[in-house]
Amino acid sequence: MVLKDRQLSLWDDQDEAAEREIEKLREQIRYHDYLYYVLDAPEISDAEYDELYARLVALEEAYPHLRTPDSPTQRVGGAAASSFASVTHRLPMLSLNNTFDHGELRSFATRLERMIQEPIHGFVTELKIDGLAVTLFYEEGQFVRGATRGDGFTGEDITANLRTIRSIPLKLKEPVTIEVRGEVYMDRREFEALNEQRMQKGEPLFANPRNAAAGSLRQLDPKVTASRPLDIFVYQLGIGDVPYTTHYELLNYFKELGLRVNPHVQLHRDIEGVIEYCGYWAEHRQDLSYDIDGVVVKVNDLQQQQRLGHTAKSPRWAVAFKFPAQEVTTRVEDIIVQVGRTGVLTPLALLTPVEVAGSVVSRASLHNEDIVRQKDVRIGDWVLIRKAGDVIPEVVAPIKSRRTGEEKEFMMPTHCPACGAKVVREAGEVASRCVGKACPAQLLEGLVHFTSRAGMDIEGLGPKVVEQLVAAKLVQDPADLYNLTREDLLGLERFGTKSAENLLVAIEQSKGQPLSRLLTALGIRHVGSTTARVLARHFRSLDKLAQATQEDLLAVPEIGEKIANAIVDFFAEPQNQRILQRLQEAGVNQLEPEEEGQPLAGKTFVLTGTLPDYSREQVVAMIEARGGKVTGSVSRKTDYVVVGDRPGSKYTRAQELGIPILNQEELLALLGVIEEE
Ligand code: IVH
Repeated sequence: MVLKDRQLSLWDDQDEAAEREIEKLREQIRYHDYLYYVLDAPEISDAEYDELYARLVALEEAYPHLRTPDSPTQRVGGAAASSFASVTHRLPMLSLNNTFDHGELRSFATRLERMIQEPIHGFVTELKIDGLAVTLFYEEGQFVRGATRGDGFTGEDITANLRTIRSIPLKLKEPVTIEVRGEVYMDRREFEALNEQRMQKGEPLFANPRNAAAGSLRQLDPKVTASRPLDIFVYQLGIGDVPYTTHYELLNYFKELGLRVNPHVQLHRDIEGVIEYCGYWAEHRQDLSYDIDGVVVKVNDLQQQQRLGHTAKSPRWAVAFKFPAQEVTTRVEDIIVQVGRTGVLTPLALLTPVEVAGSVVSRASLHNEDIVRQKDVRIGDWVLIRKAGDVIPEVVAPIKSRRTGEEKEFMMPTHCPACGAKVVREAGEVASRCVGKACPAQLLEGLVHFTSRAGMDIEGLGPKVVEQLVAAKLVQDPADLYNLTREDLLGLERFGTKSAENLLVAIEQSKGQPLSRLLTALGIRHVGSTTARVLARHFRSLDKLAQATQEDLLAVPEIGEKIANAIVDFFAEPQNQRILQRLQEAGVNQLEPEEEGQPLAGKTFVLTGTLPDYSREQVVAMIEARGGKVTGSVSRKTDYVVVGDRPGSKYTRAQELGIPILNQEELLALLGVIEEE
């Protein structure tokens, strides 16, 4: 008996110790939650936090009877509901009257003063958060119930979902009984990330952060809500006995209780200050990480509020100053396709012009085929258009309820609207591209690439001259370059006899470039200079490459499916065939010189330090021209290490491995540029 008693008391002691530790951990976690989620100013690392949290979880598992609903571990609990219970608000959740200009704000102020026959003792301005209004009920400091606004009188009980929002404290810092109101919202970034995820999973997208917040709060399964990045700003007292006389003090009190209050609250002596605040935020709303649709102006003195009272719909002591809408509806008259400089086809919605956020919008990019499908935008649809600040207008979503059945689905054209060449979309890519090399939309960029250093390397034919040639309609595809005459060039601005001559000589010389350069110059998708060299060495002639099948191409070790497809597509295009034909007629070399002329074939070089007379690029070019290869690091497989001034560790490594070391002179001798002594 005695023994049993002692045992019991031992358990009691242990229980008590556990209880004390649990309570301490909860306090610590609440404190760090507050710093992190409410003040956005954490003091400890995530790892340290996780440790505290894990310890609490473990203790609560060992002592399940000590688990309480206000524990930070109990945010996500319970099974999915089949519906929400309805909650009648003890104090209706009113809406606000709107004002749209400064004049209306001034008359709001004068109307109030006329009503109570005394000056208003200051106004408080707050940002009007574009989210979902909720009410939170705390009983002796414990969060016991939360609801949506509903029709203002009756809302839905979403307590389980609200508990998952980490910036809503489950326990206030004081054991008060109070009902507060606030706005649940989603940060723009988080919204975009969420939509990105949904896009990848093929789930329907949310139109805007507001809808995303609303959709997330109305989940019957709190686990889903818990996975959504929701947040809250508390801005209004519902019911509660509080010893304060102004709204501004109330907001500070909310903060003291551990509630999250927006930091941009401001007190103004008169309505002119309010107007200034409204003007400021109308300009700066984009600087915030969340959407606001205006400013809320409230009479500060609670007694004055009381005297002003409310109508059936809204309080007389407050008003919303609404910003110009960022979202409006209009119709998609057509969806056309634009061809960009790189051949990418972009669907573009032509809209019935509407004013959005201060400017008229008549077109909006739909980015690519997938986005058109995902958003399900059709020709003839009524759509929601959004223009955030200076940001480019965007089609948010179709308004499906307004469909008549006459709407037409957009189809990505199979042929380029600018040139008629085939349009391809590669596996794993969102972009559709025109494969035509003479496509006028791609001409400029394509020509610049053709003549560039990596391509045919035509000196004196940079982007500026290319632009001149295109503008004068002298060149419509790369082959035209080889038909240019002295007279053509002399007709251009800034061209004299000498510069025209020089350019013609440079063009003439480029005809002798090896096939690898010609291939690079053609700008075949996925074929850069390295791949071009591989292809040139393998096929030796343009003709052979052009006739290669997918299978032939895949037989080349370095060539994968993506490259093979791009090459087949390129040579299948009649437009490209014509250009190649004309290049050949102009006398452009289409062969790769045989390896015999490549004394360094198979030799590997590493360069370190600076050579007195040659740049790194020049040395690489000289070595490669003779079939050698330049790599980045020294290994046993390295044949030569070329050492210049101030060499790095590669030099020492070469010495260690006993690899032949060359200085500039020795290199030039090896390359056959100078005679060996
Ligand atoms: S006070 C009785 N303050 O705007 C006054 N509302 O159009 C209650 N809102 O339903 C509202 N930010 O959803 C207030 N700082 C703020 C607000 C705000 C957003 C929303 C709220 C309300 C609607 C009124």
